[in-house]
Amino acid sequence: MTTAERPLSATVDRLLTQLEEGLPEGEVPASIFGNSELYDAELRKIFGRCWVFLAHESEVAAHGDYTVRKIGEDNFIVSRDEEGEIHVLFDACRHRGVQVCRSDSGNSSHFRCPYHGWTYSSDGALVGAPLWKNAFGGMDKSKNGLTKAAQVRSFHGLIFATLDPSAPPLEEYLGGMAWYLDLIFGLDKDGLEILGAPQRFVVDANWKSGSDNFSGDDYHLGTLHRSVWSIGAFPVPFSENMMGYHVQAAKGHSLSFSMAEDANEPGPNFFGFPEDLAEQFDTSRISEEQLEIARRARVFVGNVFPNFSILALPMSEDGANHAPTGVLTIRTWQPKGPGQIEIWNWFLAYKNMTAEQKDRAYRAGLGTFSVGGSFEMDDTEPWITVARTGSSVAAEVLDFSLNYQMGMPGVGIASKVDDWPGPGIAYWTRYEEGVQRNLYQYYAEMMRAKPGEWPENTL
Ligand code: FES
Ligand SMILES: [Fe+2]
Repeated sequence: MTTAERPLSATVDRLLTQLEEGLPEGEVPASIFGNSELYDAELRKIFGRCWVFLAHESEVAAHGDYTVRKIGEDNFIVSRDEEGEIHVLFDACRHRGVQVCRSDSGNSSHFRCPYHGWTYSSDGALVGAPLWKNAFGGMDKSKNGLTKAAQVRSFHGLIFATLDPSAPPLEEYLGGMAWYLDLIFGLDKDGLEILGAPQRFVVDANWKSGSDNFSGDDYHLGTLHRSVWSIGAFPVPFSENMMGYHVQAAKGHSLSFSMAEDANEPGPNFFGFPEDLAEQFDTSRISEEQLEIARRARVFVGNVFPNFSILALPMSEDGANHAPTGVLTIRTWQPKGPGQIEIWNWFLAYKNMTAEQKDRAYRAGLGTFSVGGSFEMDDTEPWITVARTGSSVAAEVLDFSLNYQMGMPGVGIASKVDDWPGPGIAYWTRYEEGVQRNLYQYYAEMMRAKPGEWPENTL
């Protein structure tokens, strides 16, 4: 019996039951943000099975380029071999399990284990070891290469992998979310590239707080990020910015668009990217409907289950001297324990932007949603206390639950949209928390799913 097949512990089962029973009422047990038994089960049932984002192709652009990334808590080498093919290799020597790759990224045709010198090529194949004939002559090399992720797939240059051979193909896993990723990552035919190296920083929070926030927690901007407006960093007033759509694109995957109700309302459009740039885009890869949503969108924020988030919006690091410009960041909330994450943060630009436009976007991103930026730390501080609440004895003993009722029938002004042109379920106005309930619904289903079983992800 593999660990994924073991029955859930009584504690995990109780928490999941509370979640399943609470969700229709808009209630989520706080202990899911800090319980260590639940976290151990998540590593196997969520991160050991789901498609997770690892790297952008432009980070391993040349033959021999590699970078080390995580699936759950485990290291994987993302490498481009001498033929140009991308591999995702478990960073553990087949001889004794030693970590073979000792730098974060680089270019190499081979990885040599530091213990006894087994040497693997960039596609993971075992190619030799010291004094091979004496030590291993006659052994089958082909059966002793580095172990690969079960499936690897690129989508608009975004490299995803899963450890589960029974996982549906990535496009099927994304379901309706693929349509929305198309409209941002495929907006220009030539796609995007990463600006600089990703930032990494550790925060004492639970990974679900990041996914929850980026599923569409727009409401926190007016309180937590109110300095955004006092320094002129963002061009749309708070209450106006709450206008737009919440979309449950597929089960687990949610997003949010800030958008004026009137399609002819003046900008910002295209997530704040310069209008003249947007006019130069070759949008032939997307439909008229996708293009119209991108044109009208002031902000795009979303989360691909479990822990891959996207944010595109007009931002300025210094509103007094620079008008806001489009910033596009992608993130992962890497689990490091029930109460710790490593945040990975990349900035991207459309390849066809000029060097000056890329520089402008990078500076605006670095000055706002980055480890040294003016708004990043706003978010991380409350999440730290969510994890503290989640691991508290009081939350456990009192069955303390959190309120996710915004936008439910009779609560607030949000209402379902009948003529939304994209896949999934959309609500008008972003005073709505169905996007997060959608995240936890799929979470609960994945936690319950038996090995080899995949819950239906259409809504
Ligand atoms: S552990 Fe890697 S060569 Fe022995
Ligand atoms: Fe925020």
